[in-house]
Formats: sequence, C-alpha cells, structure tokens
Amino acid sequence: MSNIESVLVENRVFPPPEAATKGARISGMDAYNALCDEASKDPDGFWSRLARENIVWNKPFTKVLDESNAPFYTWFDDGELNASANCLDKHMGTAAENKDAIIFEADDGAVTRVTYKELLGRVSQFANALKAQGVNKGDRVLIYMPMTVEGVIAMQACARIGATHSVVFGGFSAKALHERIIDAGAVAVVTANFQMRGGKELPLKSIVDEGIAMGGCTTLKSVIVYMRTPTACNMVAGRDTTFAEVLQGQSTDCKPEPVGAEHPLFILYTSGSTGKPKGVQHSTGGYLLWAKLTMDWTFDIKPSDVFWCTADIGWITGHTYVAYGPLAAGCTQVIFEGVPTYPNAGRFWQMIEKHKVTVFYTAPTAIRSLIKAAETDEKVHPKNWDLTSLRILGSVGEPINPEAWMWYHRHVGGERCPIVDTFWQTETGGHMITPLPGATPLVPGSCTLPLPGIMAAIVDEVGHDIPNGSGGMLVVKRPWPSMIRTIWGDPERFKKSYFPEEMGGKLYLAGDGAVRSADRGYFRITGRIDDVLNVSGHRLGTMEIESALVSMTELVAEAAVVGRPDDLTGEAVCAFVVLKRSRPVGDEAKQIANVLRNWVAKEIGPIAKPKDIRFGDNLPKTRSGKIMRRLLRSIAKGEAITQDTSTLENPAILEQLAEKL
Ligand code: PRX
Repeated sequence: MSNIESVLVENRVFPPPEAATKGARISGMDAYNALCDEASKDPDGFWSRLARENIVWNKPFTKVLDESNAPFYTWFDDGELNASANCLDKHMGTAAENKDAIIFEADDGAVTRVTYKELLGRVSQFANALKAQGVNKGDRVLIYMPMTVEGVIAMQACARIGATHSVVFGGFSAKALHERIIDAGAVAVVTANFQMRGGKELPLKSIVDEGIAMGGCTTLKSVIVYMRTPTACNMVAGRDTTFAEVLQGQSTDCKPEPVGAEHPLFILYTSGSTGKPKGVQHSTGGYLLWAKLTMDWTFDIKPSDVFWCTADIGWITGHTYVAYGPLAAGCTQVIFEGVPTYPNAGRFWQMIEKHKVTVFYTAPTAIRSLIKAAETDEKVHPKNWDLTSLRILGSVGEPINPEAWMWYHRHVGGERCPIVDTFWQTETGGHMITPLPGATPLVPGSCTLPLPGIMAAIVDEVGHDIPNGSGGMLVVKRPWPSMIRTIWGDPERFKKSYFPEEMGGKLYLAGDGAVRSADRGYFRITGRIDDVLNVSGHRLGTMEIESALVSMTELVAEAAVVGRPDDLTGEAVCAFVVLKRSRPVGDEAKQIANVLRNWVAKEIGPIAKPKDIRFGDNLPKTRSGKIMRRLLRSIAKGEAITQDTSTLENPAILEQLAEKL
C-alpha cells in the first residue's frame, strides 16, 4: 500500500494526554476555539494584543494590518523594534540571563554551552565587527556557514545592526552562491574555512572563492572567515579576514538598532516553478511575532525546556526554530553540527538522553532513515537510550507517513508525547497548520487544524471553496503577520506566484494540494501542485534541475525532470535525458549518468542529484511539441501507461524511457 493510500484509510485518533493538557498555554479544544473566535471577530484587536504582549517595541505601533497596497500587505508598520534585542537583551535581568541559551554539540561530540548573557556579548561584539567592516543598516550580508554557534551569532549580529541576512545552505554549490550574492547585492559574506560533517572536513571557503571568481559580484567588499578547523584556507588580501581578526578590539556592547516593523530581517532563497530561485523576503515585526508565538503555541515551550530542532540554519526551519524562535522564547536549545548517522544511527537518541531534551523537532526523512537503521541494527534502536525527558515531538518539511508517525510515537515518544505535524513553508515564516500539543486530538499523517488567526481553506482553480472530503488547492484567505512580503527584486513574480488573478488576486496560494477530512475537517497535505519537488524535506524545482542538465551543452540536447515517490526521501528526482550523441546503453549509460549527476551537484548542490536517469532518443511530445510530463511521471513510478497516448508523436519512445540503467 502506498503512503497516500494508507493515509486515506487512517482512522486512529490520539487525544492529548493529560500531562500535555495540564498547564498548557492552549489547553483543550475550547481554548483553541476561543482564540480562533477572537481572531475572526476582531482580527486587528487579536493581532495587536498578541504583538503588544509578545514583542518588545522601541516605538509602539498604531497601525495593525494595512491592505491599501494588497497583496503587498504591511503589519505594525509604524512600530519600531530590534529582533536581536527581542531574542537577547530582553532576557537580561531575568532568570534567563545566566541560563544556557545554546548547548552546542560538535560533530565529534564535544559540547560547548553559551548562556544568554554570553551570547548577547558575542553577538554584540560581532555586530561591532560587521560595522567596522563597513556593513550598514539595510545592507545585505550573505551567510554560508556550518551549523555552529557562530552561524547563529552571524544572523543575530546582522539583525542587531539592521543588516538583512541571506543564509545559503552549506550544501549549495559555488554557482548557487554566486547567483545569490549578485541577486541580493551582498556587501559581505560570512563563511567558515571548513565544515565538519560525519567526521569529514568539507570545504566552504574555497566554494565561496570559486563563486566570487565567477565574476560580477560588484557589491561585495569583504569576506569574514570563521576558522572552524585548524586547516588553513586561501585568504585574499584586502578582502578576507578571519573571525578572530575582525573581533579583535571590538567591544561586547552594541546598542541594538531599532528598525521599522517592515524592515527586511532576511531574504531566503527557495525553489519555485521556474529555473530561478526566489528570494523570499521577510519582515522584522510580523516575522518575529510569529516565531515567538508559535514556540509558545505549537511547542507549548516553557523556560525549563530543552528544545532541539535538527534543521540547518540554511533552511527556513533553522531560521525560525533555531536562530530566532527559541531565543525569543527564552528556552535552552541544542544545536548540532553533525549528521544523524555519525558515528552511528543512534546519535539523535544518544543526544536526547545526554542533554535531557524535552521538545524534539525533526523531519520525516530523518525518522524514516533511522527506522531503517534500527531495523537492521538493534544497537541503534531508540530503546537503548533513556528518552523519558521528552514531552513533545515535532515533524516538519514533508508529509509524515502513518507508519513513520506510529514508530516515532511508540519508540521515541514512549506513547506519551504528542506529535505536532507542522505544515508551513519558507514563505509563511512559521507554522500554519499544526496540532496543539495540549488540545488537538491527533490523527497520524494529518497536520490537523490551522493555528488561530490563520484562515486556511481548500479551493478550486477559481478560488471557490471545496467541501470537506474532496481535494483541492490549499490557500490562506487572510494575511497573517509572518507572511512573505515580496520576492526580492521581483514584485511581479511575487504577485503572480502567490496571489493569482484567476483566484481573485487576494488568496495566498500555497502551491500544495490538500484535503480536509469529512468528520473533523482536519487538513491533510497531498503534495505540491506545481513543478516543485520535495526530496528529504528539501525543496527543489524541476526546472532548476532541467536547466542545470541542459547547461551541459556539449553533451545534453534536452532534459525533463519529474518526481517519483521514494520510501526514504519522500520524493526522488528522476531525469529523462536526450543526448546530443546516440542513446547510450549498458555500462556507458551508467557512466554518462554519473557524469550528469556530478554536473548537477556542481551546478546546484548534491541534494539535487537525480536518483534515476533514463536516456531516450527523444522525449514524449505532443504533435505541437509539448513534453507530456504526466507520462514521464508514470514511467518514473514504474506504472503501466494507461493514459491516452494517441496525441503522442512518437509512442515508441515510452518503452525506451522505461528502461532502467
Ligand atoms: O509541500 C509542503 C512541504 O514543504 C513545502 C515547503 O517547503 P519549504 O519552503 O522548504 O519549507 C519546509 C519547512 C517548513 C510545503 O509547500 N511541507 C512542509 N511541511 C509539511 C509539508 N508537507 C506536509 N506536511 C508537513 N508538515
């Protein structure tokens, strides 16, 4: 039975355990419904109450939502605040001051602790260093860092001086980096010489050098390098300096710069349905409000909690639930440098025991790979560790199949911890549809209900509501504070991608298909409806991979990329390729496929490598020359072709493409 089918027959319900409802911020469904009522009866009153209660404002706002230039909505526009002050300074003089903000565990197991007070000092010092490097309020800083305390410090320091950061995941290529430096107009790059993953030292700085060498980075003035390991790296005189050098002589005091609520806190690039990644621009006020509030609501976070989100700071999850949310909430968080399978696949469980983690937040793809590991090797099964500190589990990034949900519930959560299956996106800034641990009865595989104030719905192509029980497109009917503000430098694309005219121009189109259950009205996400793939919870555009393939001009004539379901990674990339030479077979085909895989890794990053590559003399096309992607999807899945192929110009091609290497 496929994942989708098994979700369809899911009828197990897990009410919240008493331990979770007792003392919870939102305890029971009545409390949830009361908040939803407040939000729908008086949205302005609801949001302004929350913004006043959860954010420290330098200048209070008088306006809440401004719709006059829709869909370019603004929130709390005339208010002023500083995001870093809301994460750090706010805790000074409180009980949080001397508690650990971060417990950092390095790849090799070494543990470093940083209190809130120490973190404030280090962020301030780096903020002063950035200023000394000529970084000003409003400038963009590109961050290409490993999972380290310094990565978070770099982000917080930008926020402190009002610079806009753009973090690029350490697995992206030099070319991806180059495009982002130029698109964002970055004045500085903060990077590390190397990153440590799974016992290996992997280069970062040399990739930065390679990216800059591609030319055209005219705005870039300096590169600041954190020496993660003792190994030397190339340093360009006049441009590159180490962390130690820039910090030298800088004070650990730096007054946080108040910025307008709409000031761009960050730009984060993500894949869309064209070849060019989108620079998703987020605000300061609305974004931070939601980061703090969702920590409180979704994770019911308490000052005594040890929170661990395993996401990298290169993704939105690492922004909201590593760099900002946990600090704004004032809990202790674990930051992990390494990978879940090193030195063995028991690493997560061992770390939960060691650091007494209470709230654990990870991706289904990690759970699935650890299930597989535990099934083949008893020694890495979670039962070998004491996981009783856990009280809440979270899932993010892709649908969690009920089998994985049940295993997570049983073997990690000891049948005691609610699982919050959080649906959201880079564009939404924080959780949108998710259970509340002290309120929502859980159904495996369902992200259940929208958070209070989030007007999620399912509609047809023209924006009309679809009844429960039938599938349609997921939309959000009203603006919310942490929503994407625009696509950096491309407002037209923002409008077209997210607020399509066909739907009236006012509904936020998530790009996902969804269905609500007939009985409870629970949402279940059925997957992307556009040309975006989700591989191990990472977003990839099919067009992006296609353009990478065809950019190998001497070899590739044409390429089409589709996704197919994969037990481990959720979806896998499948590429159909026509070469400029004759169609290869046997070992030669395998060899060329590897060349193409490595090329994609170089162009985009290793995460985009196609798992399957099939060669054909041509691609299936209609007489008008349009590639029939639905046929390719069937072939990729290994399904028999049942669709009508009468419009196909070259039906014989299907057999060729079905041939595995
Ligand atoms: O398809 C949905 C899927 O991930 C997409 C967003 O990807 P990204 O912007 O990279 O952000 C990932 C982390 C928030 C969505 O459009 N997705 C995310 N969470 C879930 C999900 N699909 C099903 N269930 C989820 N909980």
